[in-house]
Amino acid sequence: RGLLTGGALAAGGTVVGAAAVATARSEPAGRPPERTPVAGVGEAVEPFHGVRQAGIVDEPQAHAAFVAFTLRPGTDRAGLGRLLRLLSDDAARLTQGRPALADTEPELGLLPARLTVTFGFGPGLYAAADLDDRRPPSVVDLPAFRIDRLQPRWSGGDLLVQICADDPITVAHAQRVLVKDSRPFAIVRWVQQGFRRAAGAEPGRTQRNLFGQLDGTANPKPGAPVETAVWVTDGPDWLRDSTTLVVRRISMNLETWDLLGRTDRELAVGRRLGSGAPLTGTREHDEPDFAALGPDGLTVIPDFSHLTRAHVTDDRFRILRRPYNYDGVPAADGTADSGLIFAAYQADIATQFLPIQRRLAERDLLNEWTTPIGSAVFAVPPGCPEGGWVGQQLLD
Ligand code: HEM
Repeated sequence: RGLLTGGALAAGGTVVGAAAVATARSEPAGRPPERTPVAGVGEAVEPFHGVRQAGIVDEPQAHAAFVAFTLRPGTDRAGLGRLLRLLSDDAARLTQGRPALADTEPELGLLPARLTVTFGFGPGLYAAADLDDRRPPSVVDLPAFRIDRLQPRWSGGDLLVQICADDPITVAHAQRVLVKDSRPFAIVRWVQQGFRRAAGAEPGRTQRNLFGQLDGTANPKPGAPVETAVWVTDGPDWLRDSTTLVVRRISMNLETWDLLGRTDRELAVGRRLGSGAPLTGTREHDEPDFAALGPDGLTVIPDFSHLTRAHVTDDRFRILRRPYNYDGVPAADGTADSGLIFAAYQADIATQFLPIQRRLAERDLLNEWTTPIGSAVFAVPPGCPEGGWVGQQLLD
């Protein structure tokens, strides 16, 4: 504002005009920036402190960065405690619209836009802390599946921070702060950035993935189903109110998908592209009828459709999918680099995620166009009260 009203540009002078300098100087040094209240998605806040971590069962925000770290040699239980105190403090502030301590861009800390920072502990973290006996048994590298083409650059990780917000600058700033503060303890192993529909673009609707499909229809419903599927409800205090997270980077071959007709696309999943309805129904949330036969005597929903193979009815065995789309830079010939950052939360990986993934790896029409290229598993510890830090129950 100083620049434009000061006439520096109009006068054709240098960009940093006298008025701009004067404006900058008129702010007392060290004064925290203030937020001028404006109504908008930027103002919305998700709680950070609580019995359970945020960023799991809450409505997925539009943007995400999944940042996985490898612990530096020597980061032991005490070092992890220092690291997680620091990162929890950053997260507690930024999620509430307050800059981090010694934030170098404090103005970027003022719009939380529903920012959540969710911490996950990989198998290597338990080993580094000499606490293998406290690792949830299902938090181990997944077995190899024949469909996998895993790349080390998208796989594994000792510590994960899942950063989600409805504003991409908020995500970028939180990522910058958390990465900087991790430096003495850990190195960045991989970062996966993804997106869904913009906040408010289609309120209450299921998002679409880059194949154009409604993705998320059959997630466990809020209330008892999600409670059962996602949370560990008993055990010692480092397990109670925890969950687990599987992150799979799955590339989607848009070139060959483009060659398919609409009918074949719908048969591959077992749902309609437009409405998301099962092929035996008319509305998105109609129950699929896997036994219904067509005039040709075959099941209307193909036996090897993604829907049939992935379907689970018992809440205890469901998973909560919270995926993000990724869309990298296309190759020179236009070949897309697109796919899904498939993120699934469940109380137990072995009894919930694995049976589904095994069935899909064995037979799923969608496999023709999708390839897992990254894989990582994390325990997601309970949340922390005000004054506490994530991981305290485990590490303190
Ligand atoms: C359902 C797409 C990978 C598990 C669906 C649906 C779509 C879809 C369109 C139907 C709508 C819905 O309920 O959300 C994809 C794509 C994938 C992928 C494009 C890869 C790029 C996976 C993986 C798993 C999985 C890796 C788990 C190992 C499920 C489950 C359902 C589902 C549990 C719900 C089935 C039901 O009970 O009706 N997926 N999916 N998906 N998918 Fe996937």
